[in-house]
Amino acid sequence: MERGSGSCFQGVLCHWLVLVLIWLCGCQHVLSQQTTLEPKDKFLLSDPPIGLFDPIEISPSVLPHNTNPVEPLSPMYPNYTSYDPVLTGKCHVNFSKLSFMMDKTASDCSVPLAPLVADVICCPQVSSLMNIFQAAYGGGNNTLVLNQASANACFSDIMSILASKGANTNIPELCTLRPSNLTDASCPMKDISSFERMVNVSKLLDACSSVDPLKECCRPVCQPAIVEAAVHISSGGASMFGSSSIPGSAAGINAVSDCKGVVHSYLSMKLSSEVANTAFRVLSGCKVNKVCPLEFDDPSSVVKACGKASTRPSCCAALQSYIAARQKQIFVTNLQAINCATMFGSMLQKAGVGNDIYGLCDIDLKDFSLQGML
Ligand SMILES: *[C@@H]1O[C@H](CO)[C@@H](O)[C@H](O)[C@H]1NC(C)=O
Ligand SMILES: *[C@@H]1O[C@H](CO)[C@@H](O)[C@H](O)[C@H]1NC(C)=O
Ligand SMILES: *[C@@H]1O[C@H](CO)[C@@H](O)[C@H](O)[C@H]1NC(C)=O
Ligand SMILES: *[C@@H]1O[C@H](CO)[C@@H](O)[C@H](O)[C@H]1NC(C)=O
Ligand SMILES: *[C@@H]1O[C@H](CO)[C@@H](O)[C@H](O)[C@H]1NC(C)=O
Repeated sequence: MERGSGSCFQGVLCHWLVLVLIWLCGCQHVLSQQTTLEPKDKFLLSDPPIGLFDPIEISPSVLPHNTNPVEPLSPMYPNYTSYDPVLTGKCHVNFSKLSFMMDKTASDCSVPLAPLVADVICCPQVSSLMNIFQAAYGGGNNTLVLNQASANACFSDIMSILASKGANTNIPELCTLRPSNLTDASCPMKDISSFERMVNVSKLLDACSSVDPLKECCRPVCQPAIVEAAVHISSGGASMFGSSSIPGSAAGINAVSDCKGVVHSYLSMKLSSEVANTAFRVLSGCKVNKVCPLEFDDPSSVVKACGKASTRPSCCAALQSYIAARQKQIFVTNLQAINCATMFGSMLQKAGVGNDIYGLCDIDLKDFSLQGML
């Protein structure tokens, strides 16, 4: 393949790098201060205008200076096909069936950017992989988790395969990840048939089969269904097995948290990898505690127009003009747009606007980001 700048656009890594750089500049308010994006500057994420990257300060130890930021194959990147992983031979799973998840996780956790994006991108993806792996491994055996011995072997194989695909080898440290993340040991209920007896699975699947990023963050549907199922199986298990996992105690809290893993594993078994992964990433995106880079000033115009005795047209006009003004400040990524929508939603809620005004006014995620205008 020709090694011109054009070849970058096929590179997943390059594409991803661009996403991350844009994410980083959002965090640093750099774009808002130094670059004004005009509509004529319209660009696709895979096609950044030259010069966009100048103001960004990133430690050279992390990203060595590269005079051509769109050149993908600088020597710092591993040659993905250069070695085969060393496997234990004791993890009996067909990894080719998981190749979508392995590839996605490796690229989300690639050297050398994983440490920078651990909380927001890499670890949520690793966590999702663990759940999808549990389901793939246990599904044929009426179980939703691995036993300790299989977990040890599979954990090692997963890390080797990820590393062979270019992922950072520090994932266990970065993400506090251990083989026990594959066992969910303190959840008392692990087999599929008891799970289906105890949990209203149609309700769970209805809530989580298609998770809408904006709605889920403002008015969660899937997350409460998962928690409800997890609490149910953790306490149900306690009474059945006479264990000490009394809700509220430390053991009880661990059990609920491990049982959430079991619920995730069940969802992974019932949904396609792509759908399950998207759902899990949205759920963790809602939790990510990154501030929204937009500056929200006094929303009283919206509060007034959308409070009691409001009419829909005047409320929506006020809301749309408020959001349009925010949107012009800075380029935000989808993840930030989620944070922004959530933050503004809770701001309005505190100010007494109770209705689902995003739904009422047809506001969606892209309305919070500049892409929406282009
Ligand atoms: C990666 O390594 C393989 C085998 O060593 C080689 O054939 C291939 O050309 C390399 N790819 C790149 C992009 O350097
Ligand atoms: C593993 O899965 C792949 C893709 O689904 C399939 O082509 C292959 O035959 C499977 N291998 C084994 C040993 O089952
Ligand atoms: C693994 O489990 C631990 C608790 O045992 C948890 O703190 C951590 O977040 C989990 N890691 C991932 C990536 O899910
Ligand atoms: C399936 O369950 C049996 C009986 O519990 C166990 O011996 C076997 O190792 C399990 N298989 C896998 C792949 O976990
Ligand atoms: C499961 O939940 C649905 C609502 O989502 C309800 O209609 C149904 O009756 C429930 N089934 C059981 C067995 O509780």
